Amino acid sequence: MDVSGLRREYRGDNFDAVDNDPMALFGAWFGEAVQAAHAKSRDPNAMSLGTVDAQGRPSGRIVLLKGYDRQGFVFYTNYGSRKARDLEANPWASLTFWWDELDRQVRVEGRTERTDRAISEAYFASRPRESQLAAVASSQSRPLADRAALLAAVEAARKKYEGRDVPCPEEWGGYLLRPHAMEFWQGRSNRLHDRLAYRLDETGVWKADRLGP
Ligand SMILES: Cc1cc2nc3c(=O)[nH]c(=O)nc-3n(C[C@H](O)[C@H](O)[C@H](O)COP(=O)(O)O)c2cc1C
Repeated sequence: MDVSGLRREYRGDNFDAVDNDPMALFGAWFGEAVQAAHAKSRDPNAMSLGTVDAQGRPSGRIVLLKGYDRQGFVFYTNYGSRKARDLEANPWASLTFWWDELDRQVRVEGRTERTDRAISEAYFASRPRESQLAAVASSQSRPLADRAALLAAVEAARKKYEGRDVPCPEEWGGYLLRPHAMEFWQGRSNRLHDRLAYRLDETGVWKADRLGP
């Protein structure tokens, strides 16, 4: 099918200021994305996580950003999943956000590491009980006989933890991605988009370049 007619104009017009601090810029853009998404009940914290396996083959999937600060970006997953196996073999990963209400993309690249166990446990404890039971029951990314097997595992977990807290499974937890590079893309009219690319230099200082669109 030819889908070449799927095109539109991008209308952003407020990307003239160059900030020396990409995390501050990320914070400003994320805040605006949350506001814009609020009206449409979208997921402004959805991001595509790119990993590369031991053979050098890339793969991507959406995960949810659960926190960010000066250190980097945190998401949670299963440590036995395909993405986690990739990250154990090669900790370098990418995150890509696309906020279509704002015509903005943010790309992040860096090294990942597991979050401290205490952080994973605290976040797990804050999740709805049904999500906790699902995390206990699911061997993420590994084959299932059928859906009934998954539902049976949830019921077994429900019974096992009846009347007490669901503990954070050993194989479930967070990753922190420490950024080495960040790029901000603002769609503008006539395909003359703005791109601002930041890279950490050897001394740990962010350097910014404006790139051709
Ligand atoms: C909107 C959305 C949010 C998601 N959030 C997460 C998440 O935070 N953590 C996670 O492990 N998987 C999340 N997933 C599922 C992943 O995309 C993926 O299917 C799963 O993690 C297995 O990926 P893997 O086999 O590459 O490890 C989300 C999917 C979507 C569509």
